[in-house]
Amino acid sequence: MLKLELDKLSPDVTQAQLSAMAGEVAAAHQKLYDPSAPGADFTGWVRLPQGYDRQEFARIQQAAAQIRADSDVLVVVGIGGSYLGARAALEIFPSDGPEICFVGCSLSPNETQRVLDRVQDRRWSLNVISKSGGTTEPAIAFRLFRQLLERQYGSQANRRIYATTDQARGALKALADHNGWQSFVIPDAVGGRFSVLTAVGLLPIAVGGTDIAQLMAGAAQAMADFDRRDMDNPVWQYVAARNLLYRQGKRVELFCSYEPAYACFGEWLKQLFGESEGKDGKGLFPASAQFTTDLHSLGQYIQDGERLLLETVLYVDDTGCDLPIPHSEDDGDNLNYLAGKPLSFVREMAFQGTLNAHREGGVPALVVRLPRMDAHALGQLFYFFELSCGISGHVLGVNPFNQPGVEAYKKKMFALLGRP
Ligand code: PA5
Repeated sequence: MLKLELDKLSPDVTQAQLSAMAGEVAAAHQKLYDPSAPGADFTGWVRLPQGYDRQEFARIQQAAAQIRADSDVLVVVGIGGSYLGARAALEIFPSDGPEICFVGCSLSPNETQRVLDRVQDRRWSLNVISKSGGTTEPAIAFRLFRQLLERQYGSQANRRIYATTDQARGALKALADHNGWQSFVIPDAVGGRFSVLTAVGLLPIAVGGTDIAQLMAGAAQAMADFDRRDMDNPVWQYVAARNLLYRQGKRVELFCSYEPAYACFGEWLKQLFGESEGKDGKGLFPASAQFTTDLHSLGQYIQDGERLLLETVLYVDDTGCDLPIPHSEDDGDNLNYLAGKPLSFVREMAFQGTLNAHREGGVPALVVRLPRMDAHALGQLFYFFELSCGISGHVLGVNPFNQPGVEAYKKKMFALLGRP
């Protein structure tokens, strides 16, 4: 079970201050169920882990089995909330089936060509994901990959295209209907960055071989556990702490982990909190770091630079693999004091030592701790952060479910591109 450790918050945040936030957090939590609250049309993700469409889920599992049987590569086309959750899960649990490549999440000719080269003359399928059905980056990538698929498979290409999009609107939905592509629905009430537990995340994750029923079971457990309405709820504690620290002048939340495979989970968190809270001139800036790697790059700033940081550390005790440190006859590297100890022990000491050092340096930390990482735990983790983000946005006083600022660059880009 996920645990939240708060002992590295003091003296910035005390238990009494957390308790005093209970009324505000309760009101914000209730807004997720209030049809007149800002963004109320986009709270379908709150009940999704228990109320999801079982028939659609079975179709996702069937499609995943089909792709695993007939493809060496699955190309996933999407950007933002339409790819980050799946990519995060697939970095934590690498595919044991087809290679899974992500495109359409940049405008890089090099990156796109690299994936075009990877699928040449191999058996492959295409999963295009876009809720609006018209986002420029994935639309261009989809056109390129669809044409390649059609050159390779002719009329059979349509059987290898899986479209995940709105149930009625958008260019992608129209194309899918016209060409008979198998389609999956992103529910109206679920916005991109809250969509990892829909077909957006579930299809690629299932193709990779992860048990998506367990993922949903973990999220459903989190939905039940984190619905409690008091300060013993870890979601409430997290929301209260990060808002108190923001009010005290902290400006950056650094999401840290101790496994390189969790780097993309940090990217998912950055989008979730950045797009949900960064508006109306408010919000913690979400950043991410991989420890201990980044202790040798960002570590100096974290310890000694401007005091604007708080840390949210994801720590998993058992990562499923360990290595004993061997004894050496000559001990030329002076490491025999660690001989026989597992590498995870050194990592744990680095984690504890870093927390202590950063605390002394004025960086308060929250620790989200899991005994192990499996599909069930990942489902809990996704839901923990989604719920925290939805409630926290309301405590901050913004609409957590829109993203008006994302349009600004598009308008300028379209003007330069001369879009009709
Ligand atoms: O969270 C969001 O809504 C956005 O990040 C979208 O996911 C992203 O812009 C992609 O949009 P779409 O799925 O419509 O292509």
